[in-house]
Amino acid sequence: MTASIASPAAPSIPVRHPHLDLSAVPRHWNGGDPFATHFMNALSSTFPDGEAFFVKSVMAARDQIDDPLLQRRIRAFAGQEGQHSRLHDAHTKLLIDQGYTGIATRNRIGRFLMDLSVRKTPRASLAATAALEHLTAILARRLLCESERFTAAMDPTMSTLWRWHALEEAEHKSVAYDVLMRVQPSYALRVFMLAQNTLGLLVEILDRTAYMLWKDGVLFRRATWRSGWRFLFGPQGFLRGMGRDYWRWYRRDFHPDAIDDTSLLESWRPRIEAEIRSAIA
Ligand SMILES: [Fe+2]
Ligand SMILES: [Fe+2]
Repeated sequence: MTASIASPAAPSIPVRHPHLDLSAVPRHWNGGDPFATHFMNALSSTFPDGEAFFVKSVMAARDQIDDPLLQRRIRAFAGQEGQHSRLHDAHTKLLIDQGYTGIATRNRIGRFLMDLSVRKTPRASLAATAALEHLTAILARRLLCESERFTAAMDPTMSTLWRWHALEEAEHKSVAYDVLMRVQPSYALRVFMLAQNTLGLLVEILDRTAYMLWKDGVLFRRATWRSGWRFLFGPQGFLRGMGRDYWRWYRRDFHPDAIDDTSLLESWRPRIEAEIRSAIA
């Protein structure tokens, strides 16, 4: 069986332009806990260049798509990811201003390698994008299903940032996959790319987290890693509940819209849009 392409149930993809002032976000904005904060900082700081890479990878395949609906979804996907890059870039600048300057170096190297990848291996880049969009969609779904667990301890501006991003990741989760299925519908390629990028992202996040903990002078404290273990693997841990959706990618008939987020999106859309409006006011 081959993977299905597109989905009539694909949700609409509105491009929102939130204005969040991150200047007053405290250094340890996630429950006052250095590990929990820096793990999320690490993730956030990969987004500006990572999401620009997603957009370039999808746009590079755009002229091979003759479906006008998919063309419109590509434009909306690019619009949403552009907004995510903008706000996570503001957050990354805040981190650099706080003294975590090694993040800028890591981003410069990452940008160079990702630009090279789009130019030299466009199909592998598109498959990597679809795979990484699967990871962000899983995280988005968990964050929206269990918002209290993920965001209750966060600074309110940061929790709005993560909820808004999660909503839009769930809205556009099938775009890169549908483009990949039109351009290079290879099961082996997409399976390899998810395995490779899961490992790559894990190493990247742990490196960035360790660097920021080192800058805080708490990297080698036992309490830091005890709390890190609890944050990742504890009963309310960050990684709890992600496995089932993750493994679905490896099924031959996988399609992102087979994981139905419709009611989740319907219940969150008005609440998150209200949050964004009140943040502007
Ligand atoms: Fe995004
Ligand atoms: Fe995305």
